[in-house]
Formats: sequence, C-alpha cells, structure tokens
Amino acid sequence: MIDIHCHVIPLVDDGAKSFEESLNMGRKAQEIGITVMIATPHYIEGSTTISSEAIRESVQILNEEFKKHQIDVTIYPGNEIFFSNDMFEILENKKAFSLNQTKYVLFEFPMYHEEIPRNAFHEIENLQISGYYPILAHPERYLFTKKHMKFLEEMIHNGVLMQLDLGSILGIYGKMAKRNAKKLLKKNMIHLIATDSHNASRIYPQYALAYQKLQRMISKEKLDEILEKNSKKILKGKKLQPYIIKKDIFDKLKIK
Ligand SMILES: [Fe+2]
Repeated sequence: MIDIHCHVIPLVDDGAKSFEESLNMGRKAQEIGITVMIATPHYIEGSTTISSEAIRESVQILNEEFKKHQIDVTIYPGNEIFFSNDMFEILENKKAFSLNQTKYVLFEFPMYHEEIPRNAFHEIENLQISGYYPILAHPERYLFTKKHMKFLEEMIHNGVLMQLDLGSILGIYGKMAKRNAKKLLKKNMIHLIATDSHNASRIYPQYALAYQKLQRMISKEKLDEILEKNSKKILKGKKLQPYIIKKDIFDKLKIK
C-alpha cells in the first residue's frame, strides 16, 4: 500500500511527537504492507512554522534513518493544506508541497464548521485551471456534512477527489464519520483511502480489522482500486480513471 496521507515527520504538527515515534510509525507501517509514505504535515497559512525546505530535509533524514534501522519504507514529501483563498499562491511559491511534487494536492476544510466553506468552488477551480488536481482529505469527518452532504457530491462533480481516513471505518472519529464513511463508500464517492496516522499506536494495529470491514462494504475490485491502484498513480502523477470533471474545466486542462 502507498499511504498518501500521514504525519510521520516529528515535531512539526500534531503528528509524531518524537523521532523514535517516527521510526515506530515506519515499523508499524511496514508490518501492514505499506511501502511508501507521503509525509503530509498540516500547512496552515499564517501559523505553520515549518518551511518546505525543512520538510524536504526531514524526509531525507527519515529515509536515511529508516534504512539504518532496516525499515523498508520510502518517504516522499507532501502537505495537507488547510483550505484558504491563497492555496494557489502557496503552491506556486513553493511554500507547501503537493503530493510528491506531482499535480495532486491534498487539502482539508475546517473540521468543526457547520456551514460549508465559502468560495470553495472558486478556489478549487483556480487550482484546476492551473493544472492541479485537488484531493479533499477525510470528507467523512466534517461537521458540515450533517446538513450539507450534497456539497461533497458537488465537489466530486467539480473534479475533486475524495480521500477517506482508514480510522473512520473503525469509528475512531465518532459515529458521524463512521456513518458517512459507509455512505460515501456505498455511493462510490471515495477515490482513495489513507491512514492519516499521527502516531504508531492508533491506526496501524487495527488495519486488519478495518480491511475486513471494508471487504464487507465494497467489492474486492473497488477496494483494490481505492486502497492500492489509485495511490500508486498519485505517487507517479498519473491520471486517475474515471475522473469526473466539469466539461469547461476539462477543456481548459486539455487532459488527454
Ligand atoms: Fe491529516
């Protein structure tokens, strides 16, 4: 498995609390068959203190240390960008990383807002016309889904990919997220699954259980696609199929 969303870099956000924790995350990830982790520290404009250069260095150091400790997992740089009106500028000025420096961009909305984010579609389109492919992190966990589930559907129709957190299947983030996860999977609205792990102890040990639950919810073929195949394509910057996208944006992108 290629994990496109995790917080393995130590002491830069609410992820790994020590270097030892990062090593343990690598060990646990390897145990469940993860071969690649894209490190995605939170990027919040105005409050993030780690620079992209520091992320690049941390990734390099962690890769060297993983090798030294016989952890057979490779880390690539990324970010989980907090939604703002400046996302395009942040990416263009290389203040934050896309996923492995491809055109795929992982972003998140505020978790506990009851109303949908303003200007969301405008900002998404801004990214798309510049050739970026936005991926929304954990759509199932946002409070606004209580009233505005339809918004997620609209996002998909506007070409946004949806990444589910593995822990949501297990109920780690509460009943609403669990219910939404099931609903979104059944409605074929999830394109990717990732661990979004912040430490070594919470998600990895429950992987087998989560996998079993997923097997009961969707077909083997679909599970392979959203857990394995799609993330491989993301890592290499290849296009996902099918990629639902508005015709006018599609024309601007000139995707072949
Ligand atoms: Fe995250």
